[in-house]
Amino acid sequence: MAVLRCPTCGSESPATSQRFECACGGLFDVEHALRPLETKLFDARRLRAHPPLDSGVWRFRELVYHRFPRQAIVSLHEGNTPLYASPEVGDWAGVDDLHLKHEGLNPTGSFKDRGMTVAVSRARASNAGWVACASTGNTASSMAAYAAAAGLNAMVVVPEAATAVGKLSQAIAYGARAVQIRGDFDAAMGIVRDLARRGEVYLLNSLNPFRIEGQKSIVLELIQQLGWKPPDWIVFPAGNLGNCAAFGKALREARARELIRSTPRLAAVQAAGANPFASAFRDGFRELRPVRARTIASAIRVGAPVSYARAVQAILDTDGVVTDVEDDEILEAKAVVDAAGIGAEPASCAAVAGVRRLVSEGHVQPWDRVVCVLTGHLLKDPETTLAYHRGDLGEVPHANPPVVVDADGEAVRELLRDD
Ligand code: F0G
Repeated sequence: MAVLRCPTCGSESPATSQRFECACGGLFDVEHALRPLETKLFDARRLRAHPPLDSGVWRFRELVYHRFPRQAIVSLHEGNTPLYASPEVGDWAGVDDLHLKHEGLNPTGSFKDRGMTVAVSRARASNAGWVACASTGNTASSMAAYAAAAGLNAMVVVPEAATAVGKLSQAIAYGARAVQIRGDFDAAMGIVRDLARRGEVYLLNSLNPFRIEGQKSIVLELIQQLGWKPPDWIVFPAGNLGNCAAFGKALREARARELIRSTPRLAAVQAAGANPFASAFRDGFRELRPVRARTIASAIRVGAPVSYARAVQAILDTDGVVTDVEDDEILEAKAVVDAAGIGAEPASCAAVAGVRRLVSEGHVQPWDRVVCVLTGHLLKDPETTLAYHRGDLGEVPHANPPVVVDADGEAVRELLRDD
């Protein structure tokens, strides 16, 4: 049976506890018995399984939340997202063998659904009254949907000025009480953390160890899609560092359980204006210096990441790297991903811009097999996409502005001759 254990001081708490922080200040992790497992168990479920084990998260239930009662699971059929091979995007990034794991194709359009199915199931089983989260938008929309499915009251706290329109509208539509603060994500995080410490809400940010358990399935699923042969690199955008922590834990446990024989290197990519993790990496992880975050990729506009310590462990364990990219690199990468017919929100494309950067710096070799995790759907942030293509962000490569003409067939036909 799973227990919560503090990686800093080793003290334990039952899995049913609503505490996410240890008395020593460390964050609890879910700990499982690490008996070997066979890949064929998961391959059989991928071909044929009954709900909820047909979900891309619960297929890995022994690794995610062993022995949690099936009937208590709140699932919206998350996971099972495509892994696209993309030579076009690979060409731009400078690698021959690039794959894009599209987490934007989850039920609410982001990877957050994978952590939310586990943590909301736990919240409902614990009879939580209110569930809450701080968010740049995706956590909010995912939590709102799963809380609605579970019949729980939900409050989301988001920055007023910086939440993409797709995300805010989802949270409202799914019925959450949406609070827009005149402040940034880090301020929102402080507010909900305090409410959770007082026991007034059940916290569903990635401080919650069950969120991390669900997010591990991104890495497990992509490795399964590659026939259990890990790629050389897994590259992903990094904000609050929940994913980085989850990926490191997934790989550690998959090795211990003999599901994989080699460990891919993790590469976390931040926006240059929101880069405390990248700065700390360059400084040998001596300390985390929070920043006032600024970037057009609003999903990763995070200045004081809460999962810093466990993300550092993930990078060290996998011989990983952390880098950062400018907003114009993110937007160009997005234009390339979008034009390949795949499409993703700006933050997701920081990962693709990160590959190009890491190739130019000699970390990633052109012949390496690279998987980029696209974390959110193109439609999450339509305002940024329109601003880019209409030229509102200045002169940009790959602009494809819409054309306005009179309602006249000849005027439209004329445009077919134009290329
Ligand atoms: N990509 C997207 C699209 C995100 O929404 C987030 C985080 C990340 C990447 C970074 O992941 O925090 O695990 O390092 N969004 C959070 C939110 C902050 O509130 O939706 P991380």
